[in-house]
Amino acid sequence: MAVIPVALAGRAYEVVIAEGLFSRLVDAAAPFLRGYGPGRGVPFVADTNTHRLFAGGIDAHLAAHGLAAEWFVVEPGEDAKTWGVLEKLCDWLLALGVTRKDHVFAIGGGVVGDLVGFACSVVKRGVCFVQLPTTLLAQVDSSVGGKTAINTRAGKNLIGAFHQPALVLIDPLVLASLPDREMRAGYAEVLKYGLLGDAAFFAWLEANGHKVLAREPAALEHAIATSIAMKARIVAADERETEDLRALLNLGHTFGHALEAETGFSDRLLHGEAVALGMVLAAKYSARRGEISREDAARAEAAIAAAGLPARTADLGLGCDGAALARHMRHDKKAEGTTLPFLLLCALGEAYVARDVELADIAAFLDGELAG
Ligand code: GLY
Repeated sequence: MAVIPVALAGRAYEVVIAEGLFSRLVDAAAPFLRGYGPGRGVPFVADTNTHRLFAGGIDAHLAAHGLAAEWFVVEPGEDAKTWGVLEKLCDWLLALGVTRKDHVFAIGGGVVGDLVGFACSVVKRGVCFVQLPTTLLAQVDSSVGGKTAINTRAGKNLIGAFHQPALVLIDPLVLASLPDREMRAGYAEVLKYGLLGDAAFFAWLEANGHKVLAREPAALEHAIATSIAMKARIVAADERETEDLRALLNLGHTFGHALEAETGFSDRLLHGEAVALGMVLAAKYSARRGEISREDAARAEAAIAAAGLPARTADLGLGCDGAALARHMRHDKKAEGTTLPFLLLCALGEAYVARDVELADIAAFLDGELAG
């Protein structure tokens, strides 16, 4: 078991990681269940998949303690992060009579967490919520740190708020039902922590990554706890990404976002897969600028390939050129004229924000990568 504090003044909370937490939820979340009881159910939000997998167990567990859940169930996937679903969820929470002292429980991946977090940030100007992440990606990234959002026609995550959860409960056992491809996609974000800020963790993952992917309990808990401990430190120091610190968590994301846009944000390339390939590109581009050695860039690529994640841009069969990928980057929130702040590596285990990167040079670099 690991308990990791997120030390935000006035809004500090804990991330608890322990096997079997979901089956002892009433104990684990006791202070956050006050106010619920006979005639007043606990609000839970899930998608149809997590509802099918976990609602039965949670209902039975709550019933054994004289509690009941009220369920709001959305369709799986990004389509749940819309104005329409947000409106229905807010209306449902208001109809339940939630107060600012109540806690809403979000059980699922990043989509459910982002949606519930944003709804809770606006209902009655701020209702509390508890995150129960059920994918590796949500466990090591989106459930911690308080970034909440929905998507609009203009793009993903452009409407949102910083709203920190009151508690995050991570039960690694729930990953048993996660498809292997999604497990690998979440593992890309684990590798990200090693690459951006912890060379020893990266080396540990090179040796033990296969155990994490096989869901071996000790290795899995170590990987999740180490990842979250780094995220918690970064969030506590730069909650709103106003310094260059929280931005480091976007390593691989600018390249990755362009690849996701080019593949239509579809199952062709999952977010974590795009981030994995984006990190290979960031490492290779850093080597091209002479900031890390080609051997170190090759180590980053090898760790990603060894996890079964996409590591070669040419293999995607994109049929576009580097300029087309660079055009997707121009729409990035952080773009300034012909340049874009880029997350690069000055060592394996040390990322930094480069502000002198010309998109034309990125396009030329990507032409070489697309050609193989
Ligand atoms: N996923 C990046 C962040 O939370 O800042």
